[in-house]
Amino acid sequence: MFTTVSSHQNPSRVSGGFYDLPADLFGAIAALKQDLNAIVLAHYYQDPDIQDIADYIGDSLGLSQQAASTDADVIVFAGVHFMAETAKILNPHKLVLLPDLAAGCSLADSCPPDAFAAFKAAHPDHLVVSYINCTAEIKAMSDIICTSSNAVKIIQQIPDDQPIIFAPDRNLGRYVMEQTGRDLVLWQGSCMVHETFSERKIVELQIQHPETEIIAHPECEPAVLRHAHYIGSTTALLNYTQRSDRPSFIVATEPGIIHQMQKATPQKQFIPAPPMNQCACNECPHMRLNTLEKLYLCMRDRQPEITLPADTQTAALKPIQRMLELSR
Ligand code: 13P
Ligand code: SF4
Repeated sequence: MFTTVSSHQNPSRVSGGFYDLPADLFGAIAALKQDLNAIVLAHYYQDPDIQDIADYIGDSLGLSQQAASTDADVIVFAGVHFMAETAKILNPHKLVLLPDLAAGCSLADSCPPDAFAAFKAAHPDHLVVSYINCTAEIKAMSDIICTSSNAVKIIQQIPDDQPIIFAPDRNLGRYVMEQTGRDLVLWQGSCMVHETFSERKIVELQIQHPETEIIAHPECEPAVLRHAHYIGSTTALLNYTQRSDRPSFIVATEPGIIHQMQKATPQKQFIPAPPMNQCACNECPHMRLNTLEKLYLCMRDRQPEITLPADTQTAALKPIQRMLELSR
């Protein structure tokens, strides 16, 4: 049985007409997974229905580890472009699909390759540690990749006398400097979502609900991080809410993660940290471009596919492998 979806619901795929979509998208995606021998990897910032159909849901490190170890023939990446790109770099001979090719990242965009090459040239002798939220070109110019869950651990393994460039997120970089006591040369990039939270509103909310704990992602600005009881990657935040004895949390990261928090501990309350404006700008507009419909269509049509120039792919692989080794 088929229903139709309007261009309004499915804007990126419609060029002057309607598409037929199966009524049971969950069932159709499950069947395509079998036909293609595909694995669906999803980040916690995806819509809840995408999380519910995924074979694996995780933070950037967990997703990279899954991509590195899967024996599926096709990787369907429900996340943003740099994540799917990382999966392709790890699997040059596999088909890697991204439901919406326009799902980018403001943080990755804040570090253009030409400007970064000049920055690197101005700091000879520096080792380049780049946060995974960057393009394949930036990865190809880096020595080691890190994620928010292993950045501190990786910097701690680098000899003390080795100068380091940390790119592209200045907030994570500052946090790592505090945690390690190391002096890092920071690229001044940032994430539009994590810089949207209002310190004043978060503090007011906590005064109104004194039983809550504030938990935050290290991509948040220092003004927010200084009020946090716990700081960590999305997986670390999820795990923390399960072991804390507090009944409620103010969650300073993209609110997609709350779906898993609520599932893991339904008796607890999770309050999305308020943004500065009266907007939904704490939702990542890039992550949210993916929909269940686009996930189905990309599997049905085997596109959009992630492709990369061979030299970039080869150069970007080394620093990712280095990260995977140093994270063991
Ligand atoms: P993690 O899931 O690795 O914590 O990263 C958060 C993020 O911003 C992904 O874009
Ligand atoms: Fe990029 Fe920020 Fe969106 Fe993560 S939440 S994908 S860092 S824009």
